[in-house]
Amino acid sequence: MPKRLIIAIDGPAGAGKSTVARALAGRLGLTYIDSGATYRAVALKAVESGVSPDDPAAVIELVNRSKVGFVAKDGDWHVTLDGCDVTGLIRTPEVTQAAAWVSRVPEVRQKLIALQREVAREAGVVMEGRDIGTVVFPDAPLKIFLEADPSERARRRLDQEQAGGRRAGLSATADEIRQRDRLDAERKVSPLVPAADAVRIDSTDLSAEEVLERILSLAADRGLIRERGTL
Ligand code: DC
Repeated sequence: MPKRLIIAIDGPAGAGKSTVARALAGRLGLTYIDSGATYRAVALKAVESGVSPDDPAAVIELVNRSKVGFVAKDGDWHVTLDGCDVTGLIRTPEVTQAAAWVSRVPEVRQKLIALQREVAREAGVVMEGRDIGTVVFPDAPLKIFLEADPSERARRRLDQEQAGGRRAGLSATADEIRQRDRLDAERKVSPLVPAADAVRIDSTDLSAEEVLERILSLAADRGLIRERGTL
């Protein structure tokens, strides 16, 4: 049994990655890491500094004078920007849109991928993102590519936004998801594609619990965990 189990959960926005990755980490006593939060932290800095996120040269200059990190807090890993915990500031629509742009810049990815690898050095992790199974941890023994119909992803994202107190409409959310899908899939570096050895799970008609059970049984079949879902 490996001492440091790494499970990669990739997929498009709204497929249910965060809910499932967090629950899986909780069940297995692994650390849950949201790699998207690191791109969002850089995007936040661009927004706050008035740097245009679709200007790669300005974004490179910005990331070179930024310090993104993780800090353990309340049993969770929070993302930091220049030493401050910014976890509560990175989910605004403006930051979401800026993140889709800054994550296209290879120099940004290089720096943040090094950080994502670093945080998994000490402990086993469930890491969610877009390129965890393809680029960040190509040797991960279990890679999941979680998908769902775009309309279902928009509906879930709308629920999240409304639960967070934001006013959003279904058609605006569906447009935003479509635009992010396009930016994520079309970029030259680390485009959103499943790893050749990823297991694809379509969560459109599955509850989070059903997805979790499916992943646990895959992990058990591969001898990564015990039958009852413990390490
Ligand atoms: O998962 P998320 O919505 O928080 O991700 C924010 C942005 O960062 C999104 O546009 C995709 C990008 N991202 C990425 O390019 N690679 C990752 N591993 C994670 C997120």
